[in-house]
Amino acid sequence: MSLAVLHSRALAGMDAPEVTVEVHLSGGLPSFTIVGLAEAEVKEARDRVRAALLNAHFEFPARRLTVNLAPADLPKESGRFDLPIALGILAASGQLPANALHEYEFAGELSLTGDLRPIRGALAMAYSAQRCGRTFVLPQTSAAEASLVREARILPAKTLLEVCAHLARRESLQAYIAPPTAAPQHDYPDLADVKGQAHAKRALEIAAAGGHSLLMAGPPGTGKSMLAARFPGILPPMSDTEALEAAALQSLGSGGFRLEQYRRRPFRSPHHSASSVALVGGGSNPRPGEISLAHHGVLFLDELPEFERRVLETLRGPLESGYVQISRAARQAEFPARFQLLAAMNPCPCGYLGHFNARCRCTPDQVARYRGRISGPLMDRIDIHLEVAAVPQEDLLRQQAGEASVMVRARVAGAHALQIGRQGKCNSRLGTREIDRWCRPEPAAEGLLRQAIARLGLSARAYHRVLKLARTIADLARSELIAVAHVAEAIQYRKLDRAG
Ligand SMILES: Nc1ncnc2c1ncn2[C@@H]1O[C@H](COP(=O)(O)OP(=O)(O)OP(=O)(O)O)[C@@H](O)[C@H]1O
Ligand SMILES: [Mg+2]
Repeated sequence: MSLAVLHSRALAGMDAPEVTVEVHLSGGLPSFTIVGLAEAEVKEARDRVRAALLNAHFEFPARRLTVNLAPADLPKESGRFDLPIALGILAASGQLPANALHEYEFAGELSLTGDLRPIRGALAMAYSAQRCGRTFVLPQTSAAEASLVREARILPAKTLLEVCAHLARRESLQAYIAPPTAAPQHDYPDLADVKGQAHAKRALEIAAAGGHSLLMAGPPGTGKSMLAARFPGILPPMSDTEALEAAALQSLGSGGFRLEQYRRRPFRSPHHSASSVALVGGGSNPRPGEISLAHHGVLFLDELPEFERRVLETLRGPLESGYVQISRAARQAEFPARFQLLAAMNPCPCGYLGHFNARCRCTPDQVARYRGRISGPLMDRIDIHLEVAAVPQEDLLRQQAGEASVMVRARVAGAHALQIGRQGKCNSRLGTREIDRWCRPEPAAEGLLRQAIARLGLSARAYHRVLKLARTIADLARSELIAVAHVAEAIQYRKLDRAG
């Protein structure tokens, strides 16, 4: 009788819980059973492992072979366990020394020829392996991502044979040395391309500085989509923790993680036909949705009223809490989703309401129905309501280039650093208590705010949003005090509350 025990990991939300792979060989009729996986996946894993072993010229034991993936109640994707299963069979049948296996964790899908295929969630696994003090053996193609966990010991391999040679102490795998991560590339289009629109650019700068959500409303062709595309180029730099969290989520997503994206604030712009699963996440092996892939970055919803209302409503919870919980049958997963919402819409169905030289043909009823597609509670959660007006043609021709994105980004970064130094987070994330502490306007400004609340009928939530916004405006002006001018500017950005 012979038994081999190896360590690997499953994925559950952002965590990578440990899975023990036990391989047992005993006498009896030849058979190959895997327990602890879903039935369809068992068959695939069995076929791949058998083919890979035979093609690598190992002997496939003609005995009774049982593989147990424990704990049984943990959901597991089959592919990643191919490598530990194959190694377990070799160790149990004496083709590989079994004494050092406990120092390692293994993950990798095998091709039929024994090559190692990339795995999902390598970053989360590397993080957990490091905490257990084990060395992580994984496919070469997933190594760069895993190496973002600085203290992790990572051994990348291209094939099953390479791993076997390492374990047999014939030829050692080389530890992965992460290439120095370059400063993130800023190849976004430049804000200088947008002529005029000083008001809109100012609002974008405030939104970037304080992490505030922003909705742009304006007629067709006024540059809303153009402005949005330039928004990531003025965002403040990411901290180490933010960058790692964002990378970990991307590594769990279907698109995977790309090293050149590291330290770039995510910018996701799902199409308005997106389903709620695509937006908030889900699936039988729960995967993060767009809002989680936009964690610590921007979620841009262009043509906001075209999104299904039911889909938009799912954003309400995560917008406040910063995470999303996905429950599906027996499985539950939680993903962080602290994203900044950026949205654009036309003011009415025909688009020309309020245009300086085009007539709107919509009835008030049609306008109301159109705007009603975005619920009051969602509107309430948007800090900045911005009206983007059409730029007159002669201005488009006359005006020379505006300020470049680098200049704006420098001011944004300054104001961002101020907030982190003062309260450890950006203004948009302040809670009620923290607002009391950090966002006290001076008496005259307080008076102005009181008047505005009464006149505009602002909700309590909108009131807090105005205060946070005024704090950011003061921070951009490097003013410790929140003065009348700061509050006055903040109030103007609640336009759509008024219309409603
Ligand atoms: N202020 C501007 N400066 C320079 N070009 C502009 C400006 N506004 C609009 N344009 C030009 O008009 C085009 C259309 O702009 P954009 O797609 O951003 O409009 P939009 O507001 O998103 O319209 P829609 O509501 O139809 O989506 C841009 O590609 C750009 O060429
Ligand atoms: Mg557009």
